[in-house]
This record gives sequence, C-alpha cells and structure tokens, in this order.
Amino acid sequence: MPATLIGNIKLLVNATENFSLLKGKDLSVLPCIENAYLIIEGSVIAEYGLIRHLKHKVEDFAFHINAAGKIVLPSWCDSHTHIVFAGSREGEFTDKIKGLTYEEIAAKGGGILQSANQLNDISENQLFTDAYGRLQNVMKLGTGAIEIKSGYGLTVEGELKMLRVINRLKNAVNIPIKATFLGAHTFPLLYKEDRKGYIKLIIEEMLPVIAKNNLADYIDVFCEKGFYTPEETELLCKAGLQYGLKPKIHANQLHISGGVQTGIKLNAISVDHLENMDNEAIYSLAHSSTVGTLLPTAAFFLRMPFQPARQMIDAGCAIALASDFNPGSSPSGNMNFVVALSCIQMRMLPEEAINAATINGAYAMELQNEVGSITIGKKANLVLTRAIPSLHYIPYSFGDNLIDRVMLNGEWIS
Ligand code: NIG
Ligand code: FE
Repeated sequence: MPATLIGNIKLLVNATENFSLLKGKDLSVLPCIENAYLIIEGSVIAEYGLIRHLKHKVEDFAFHINAAGKIVLPSWCDSHTHIVFAGSREGEFTDKIKGLTYEEIAAKGGGILQSANQLNDISENQLFTDAYGRLQNVMKLGTGAIEIKSGYGLTVEGELKMLRVINRLKNAVNIPIKATFLGAHTFPLLYKEDRKGYIKLIIEEMLPVIAKNNLADYIDVFCEKGFYTPEETELLCKAGLQYGLKPKIHANQLHISGGVQTGIKLNAISVDHLENMDNEAIYSLAHSSTVGTLLPTAAFFLRMPFQPARQMIDAGCAIALASDFNPGSSPSGNMNFVVALSCIQMRMLPEEAINAATINGAYAMELQNEVGSITIGKKANLVLTRAIPSLHYIPYSFGDNLIDRVMLNGEWIS
C-alpha cells in the first residue's frame, strides 16, 4: 500500500491512543509530540512518534513531506451546521445593523421563514450544488467531519428535500457527515395558530418517512421562547427516539429556555448554543453525559453575549465548538475563526479550544472512533499549517489563513 510520510513535524497535535470525552479541566490537556513523524497508509493513520525513533527509510515511502517548522492537527469536527440553504439574507443583516432584533425580524416573517420560502422555490439539484460548494470551502479550511441539519423546509416535501440533499452530500465527499432532522426549527406561517397541527405533521407525516428512508441520524428542536417550549421539545424528541433518532437540541440561545435540562433529561447527544446559562443549567450539564456545544460565531454575528465557556469548563462541563454555519446567525463555517473567537472572547485556552473543536466535536457526532484525534486506525483527516512559531499562534493570528494543506481520507486536497 502506498504510504505517506510526514516528517520533521514541529508539533503533532492531539496525538493519543487514549482519547475520551473531555470535561472540565481535562479540556486543557492536549497531547502533543514535538519533532514528530506521521505515517498514513491508504485512508488511515498508521504510525506516529518522535522523528528520532523513525525506523523506516524515507525512500520506502511513495510520498514524503518535510514539515519542518509546521504543525499537524486533526481536522476540525464541526458538529452543528445548517449548510444546506438557499440564497442569503444580507438584507436582514443590514436591518440588524439598523437596530432590529433577531426576534423582531422573525416576527415580521424574515429569518428562518424567509430561508424556508427561498428553499422551497429552488430545485433540489440547485440546493445540492450550492451546499456542495459551501462544503468544499469549509473542507479547504480544515473541516474533516460535519453535521448538517434540515429545518428550512418546514413542509413534508421541503424537509425531505433537504434531507435527501444531505444524504447526497454524504456520498459526494470523503468526510463523515451526520444528518439531523430539524423540522421543528420554527412554526411555518400556515400553522402559526395551530401549533399542535404542525407538531402532528412532524410526528405523523415527516418522521415515519424519514425513518423508513433512513434519511436522518438525529433529531433537533429549536427550544426557545417564541419557538418550541420544553414540553413540545420533549414530545418531539421522544417521537424521534422511537425511530432511533437521538436528540441534539438548540437550547438557551436567546433566553434561559429550559432546553438544557430538557436535553439532559432526554439523554441528548448535545445541547447547543448556550448563550444564556444560569448556575442551574451549568450544574445540570456538568453532571450529565451530554456535550455542551458552543457556537460563538452566532453570538458574535448577532451581537449577543458570548457563551460562558469559562464558568462551564470550571464547573466540569464537556464543551464542543461548532460553526452553526447558516444564513441567519452565522454565515461562515470557518472553524479556524471559531477557535480563535473562543480564545479571544470566551477566554478558552488554545488547548481547550482545539480539543473542543476536534475530539469533543467528534463525540458530539458520535464519530470519536473515526476522527477527532491523531490515533492509529482513525481516518487520516489532517490540517498541515504553514511554518508558524507555536501552537498558540493559531488562535492569536485570527483571520489569517495558516493552512498549507489539508488531508482528508488520506488524500491531499488543494
Ligand atoms: O442555530 N437558532 C436557530 N437556528 C439557527 C439560525 C437560523 C436562521 O436564522 O436561519 C441558529 O442560529
Ligand atoms: Fe443552529
């Protein structure tokens, strides 16, 4: 099998044979090897260690890269995105600059409902092509595993169309993708006065077809004032669980919504957003096996207070970082920026942020045995940086593209 050797690596990051979901102070422990080598065979990581312990001859490898001065990291695991969407919403962006709030925009039919109209107007092929382009972009920025949600269809046909597109993406790219059904993203206009009717539609018309065609891995609900109550969230997630769809919930984005406790009660894989956390929600999360996924670019873009990452880590929570790439609250899927922002605005240490965006992100998609660390047998999904002074330089030099190359499934992408 043609093997690749990456030699003279200044720092090999998150190299470990003992990975686990990292909670609290363990998040700051990032196993790294200085002056390392890494061998890739086919699509997987075959061997790594100190360069002075390399037993093979360089000539024995089909490909050899001298990574002097450069850092190798596992690729980013982006566990919360909405990259399948139609069009864009920069009009609303300008309205927000002028002073309208996210909720005011939603109340006048903008926001998610506008994206739903746009999505239902374009063809499935166009939707796929647009999402495929965004996916290629984030892969070039180092994303090597991703979760993608539906939720801009809000009709049986629209939701199925989105999920079919996500499933086409699964076959079109060589990174793992998880599909999440978010039919309960908001209430469509038609059901504004008939919430029960839309919930019934989700449970009786959408879920059975999704399950029958194996179109989703998870179920999500936007548990928020003005959107879905904790009781509705529980009802919907329990219906999803009957078909084997575990919950990953949008919780506490705009208010203390009760979504965190609801998610924990349902044994959710993750509760996501968490801009608004009180001591009770932090305590419950810290004493659960649910991952708290922070989406700092959404807080940044909506000019909201950042997630209280420090308090959550100090309380012992498991934290993941994700981009929330979507047209309304985070029109960027750049995980390098997510990591930098987490350090700059949430006071996460670079080590904590990198762990949260790699191994803990993998756990938040149940992909920890495939990606998220440099581990023998895991997928060779890596980021090779340019020559840089140190690991801490990565979030420090925010906004700059430090990536020399990205390897996905053992192949270098341009
Ligand atoms: O995660 N908060 C709910 N959903 C998305 C935003 C959706 C939109 O505005 O289009 C989010 O931020
Ligand atoms: Fe989201």
